[in-house]
Amino acid sequence: MTPLIDSFGRRHDNLRISVTDRCNIRCFYCMPEENVKFEAREHVLSFEEIERFARIAAGLGVRKLRITGGEPLVRKDLAGLIRKLNAIPGIDDLALTTNGVLLAAQAEELYAAGLRRINIHLDTLDRERFRQITRRDDLNRVLDGIEACRRIGYGPIKINAVAVKNLVEPDIVPLARFGRERGIEIRYIEFMPLDAQGLWLRDKVLSADEMLAMLAREIGPLEEVPDRDPRAPATEYRFTDGVGSVGFIASVTRPFCLNCNRLRLTADGHVRYCLFAIEETDVRGLLRGGAPDEEIAAAVRTCVSGKWIGHQIGSQQFVPPPRPMYSIGG
Ligand code: 5AD
Ligand code: SF4
Repeated sequence: MTPLIDSFGRRHDNLRISVTDRCNIRCFYCMPEENVKFEAREHVLSFEEIERFARIAAGLGVRKLRITGGEPLVRKDLAGLIRKLNAIPGIDDLALTTNGVLLAAQAEELYAAGLRRINIHLDTLDRERFRQITRRDDLNRVLDGIEACRRIGYGPIKINAVAVKNLVEPDIVPLARFGRERGIEIRYIEFMPLDAQGLWLRDKVLSADEMLAMLAREIGPLEEVPDRDPRAPATEYRFTDGVGSVGFIASVTRPFCLNCNRLRLTADGHVRYCLFAIEETDVRGLLRGGAPDEEIAAAVRTCVSGKWIGHQIGSQQFVPPPRPMYSIGG
């Protein structure tokens, strides 16, 4: 079996699986406020189809899986899927990204199904700003979900915060303090042009450098964590007082495409080689049309071999992808 290596020598061993495009909140950097265009339910892959695809991917050298959405916890019996994916030979890392709203109720059964690594999005600890960003009043439910995960013993727990300029500056330092007190790494993600309403502008990106300067000024000096996995998208810094670390996913100001090892499966069964890809490969038709595993594997290889060098955010050529974030899977 030859691994999934693209024409730039990048080896793909990391698959992000979106299990639904539906979501119970409406973050403005991802979804429109109303009239969200969801996929028809019959287009969404069943857990059996997802499991089969994941097995085929594992046979192609995929070692890491991450479940995303929309919001994965709105899908019934997600724990059942976690259990199945965990049992696939070759998969040695399974993680989940969630908005945390339904987490307090499900954390226990997800843990029992074998989940240990979890990323929770939380942009602010301020109830009013949370409502402004997500158009829902669920901050306390998310905080309860985080507490439930800590109590149960999840690790690592990480928080994803999207960094939008002229909006979340007051949240950067309180979030880092929150993380330092709880052994949780906050990962600040530069706002990317993936929102459904086309609101993104280069000057709405709060940059990793700006955030680093705020943290150093208000909390204390930081140093880059040495010898990190070069393929991990986040650059990590630790506070030199030994208490905690933060990460930055600086997709806009420090693109990391050259180390990308990720593929994505959308909820409606399309394989994408990049968040920002324009083209994608339909595998739902193959999964449902009786195609043998080899044919599906060949489609994945073709997708990887067509992968571009990287997104060109900020350049004249950049074209936003045809799907917004909730429909791609973060
Ligand atoms: N820019 C950056 N990050 C985003 N996310 C959603 N939309 C955007 C965007 N436009 C994040 C969510 C989630 C992760 C999957 O992607 O906060 O944590
Ligand atoms: Fe839902 Fe996630 Fe999009 Fe927010 S970013 S609206 S939580 S899918």
